[in-house]
Amino acid sequence: MPDIRVIAAEDVGEDAEAFFSEFGGEPVIVTGVRDHLAGLSWISPEELEEWFEGETVTAVEAESQERVELAGEEFFAGIKRGETRYNMVDHTVVDTTLGHSLEVPSFLSQNWLADPDEEEQELRNYEKSLVATAARGYTPAHRHEYGFSGWMYLIYGLKEWVFHHPRYSQALYDPMFREFYDERAAAARPEEYLRRFPLAELVASYRVEGSIGAGDLLVYPGGWIHSVHTLEESFGYGGAVLNGHSVENAMRCWLLERSLGMAGSLDLKAFLKRKRERLWGVKAPEEPAAACRDRDLDRVEEALALCEEWEARFGGTSPHSSSHD
Ligand SMILES: [Fe+2]
Repeated sequence: MPDIRVIAAEDVGEDAEAFFSEFGGEPVIVTGVRDHLAGLSWISPEELEEWFEGETVTAVEAESQERVELAGEEFFAGIKRGETRYNMVDHTVVDTTLGHSLEVPSFLSQNWLADPDEEEQELRNYEKSLVATAARGYTPAHRHEYGFSGWMYLIYGLKEWVFHHPRYSQALYDPMFREFYDERAAAARPEEYLRRFPLAELVASYRVEGSIGAGDLLVYPGGWIHSVHTLEESFGYGGAVLNGHSVENAMRCWLLERSLGMAGSLDLKAFLKRKRERLWGVKAPEEPAAACRDRDLDRVEEALALCEEWEARFGGTSPHSSSHD
């Protein structure tokens, strides 16, 4: 099984376009980012317990995978004691003092989610969020909603990741119970898993894996299924990215979610249309004529065209509409 590609921060440069062209197609680990984000060295488990005293944090309950709200000091004291019951994965820090001190590497800063219209302010929460997990914590296989690209930077700790390419989604997804094939669960309940995922064994070994430690950054494209094993108590932050490079992939994932009944509340089509008007002053599809035309505008047009093609067959992007109604 191949390892996740590893590159050094100094080989990446600052440019988002260059980074996503070269590394945007598969998960990649960027090492040595710490030197670039030196201002974070103050952060330690003790500091965090203090920092979050009296605050509420969002975490995921390991058993049910349900989102819960907890007192901050209780959560951080728990992971320090090695309790794996709660896992912080997407506690947003956008517009907070802590959030302002957590820098986003410049090659990830081209992000349409960071600057949405008034109608989509909640999307800003995706830009930057905290990650904190006790040693031996485990996040079962899942895929992030809407097909945004994801990244995680570890300030301390050690996490091991296993990814599957979206092309294996059909074998690794049970549409009836809307659940992904998870290796640990499969080992515990082999007969049930064989019934629910008859093709999983054919593709389960086509995985890419790797681990990140302090100062490492993992970046991965939308739609990739992944599970995460936390080997050492870990703390870091991460976020979601949508830009010209990821927009077509995001639209594919978003439409697939509609097909599979996994639809969230985001209307990606409306979002992109507003983006097109706001960034380029374009209200309706235009012929890609001018040579100086922005490449990202073409990418948005392509994503919208894919959406129209889907709608022409299935009658709309609302979760329950169908041309046979
Ligand atoms: Fe994830």
